[in-house]
Amino acid sequence: MVLLNSVLFLIVLHIVSSKSIKDNEPFFGQPEQIHLSYGHDPSLMIVTWVTLNEVNDSVVEYGQLDMLDKRSTGNVSIFQDSGSEQRREYIHRVVLHNLIPGQKYFYHCGCDDYGWSPLFWFTAMRNDSDFVVRMAVYGDMGKDNAQSMARLQEETQLGHFDLILHVGDMAYDMNSDNARYGDQYMNSIESIAAYIPYMTCPGNHENAYNFSQYVAKFSMPSSYNTYGGDANHFYSFNVGPVHVISFSTEFYYYLQYGFEQIINQYHWIEQDLKEANKPENRAKQPWIITMAHKPMYCSNNNDDECLFANGYIFIRVGLPFIQAFGFEQLFAQYGVDLEFWAHEHSYERLWPVYNMTVYNGTKGAYIDPDAPVHIVTGSAGCNERHDPFGVPRPWTAFQNSDYGYTRMNVYNSSHLYLEQVSDDQGGKVIDSMWLIKSKHGPYSYV
Ligand SMILES: [Fe+2]
Repeated sequence: MVLLNSVLFLIVLHIVSSKSIKDNEPFFGQPEQIHLSYGHDPSLMIVTWVTLNEVNDSVVEYGQLDMLDKRSTGNVSIFQDSGSEQRREYIHRVVLHNLIPGQKYFYHCGCDDYGWSPLFWFTAMRNDSDFVVRMAVYGDMGKDNAQSMARLQEETQLGHFDLILHVGDMAYDMNSDNARYGDQYMNSIESIAAYIPYMTCPGNHENAYNFSQYVAKFSMPSSYNTYGGDANHFYSFNVGPVHVISFSTEFYYYLQYGFEQIINQYHWIEQDLKEANKPENRAKQPWIITMAHKPMYCSNNNDDECLFANGYIFIRVGLPFIQAFGFEQLFAQYGVDLEFWAHEHSYERLWPVYNMTVYNGTKGAYIDPDAPVHIVTGSAGCNERHDPFGVPRPWTAFQNSDYGYTRMNVYNSSHLYLEQVSDDQGGKVIDSMWLIKSKHGPYSYV
């Protein structure tokens, strides 16, 4: 009996002491890692943030002219990291509805009990073809040595961009230090991503635990799930005169997560391209632009795929032996105009190219070219440093290894301007291209 009493006493003591330790732990209920993404139509904007402790209210108060007179609520889901600490984070997603396209809104997010974010603002999407859309495009930006970050922050807050395309690889890596690198990275981009939509695709550095943190923390647009989350590997959206398709090259390199993802994605892209090419759709969004991480063509000398295979050949021509699910032929068939890639920590502009053959037009390389144009822009800055170039290939138009990012303005159905900013050279524009098309659609050889 004495023994039983002693055991009971110890159990009670343990419960009491555990509770008191827990009560003394700091509670992090304030919103952090706040970022925006476009919804699948211009009346929507998705606000996503994180709390490090359990908060069950997800609220955005917003409005025009500095008045936060509207209120939307959303949902919270748990991100469980698979590192040794098994950390949990709480992901809050709120979709704002009935926005007026092109209008500026102020907002903050959080809840009354645990506090609110600072005040941010955004401009609602426009997808009419008269809208001149301005984007910054880059891949491969880490938590450390994110060299382009300061310039991107300033340009964003000065209103130079409508959205960001981040072409994969971030934080280096999100899962490091039990997912804290992901937290730090997402906090560091807040000064960009809380103001303009931060549209992403996955890179190899997001692969840990089946891309779980990447999938958990972004909310890309999906017509079947307006809360995002499960569309983060591949999706599309319209902005101005542009149809953007984002997809994963990583399905081809992390087969342990499921071969069927390659097939599902391929069929989805084919269907999306068919839809985008219906005359009434292509008239509204004549430009089709893709973004994905590992390039079909590159000429860096640090990477066997660039040295010996002229790029990531699975992506270009498909899987070995079966020669299926490659994108080069599909993209030519449906008249993709421009393809953004990253992974190589450098910038390369290519001549219009198909099947390793350059198709420079008779009027000038980028005037009605008879092949898609590829840009590899993966030099935003990370702890893995620059990737040097090898010998230029026949399709190499311009190579540069400076840290930097790409700016792109799509002016109308015929004129697209793109330039490369070197952060190493104080923001100097080191390359530019006008892509001019009097018509959009399939190329002549497919
Ligand atoms: Fe990469």
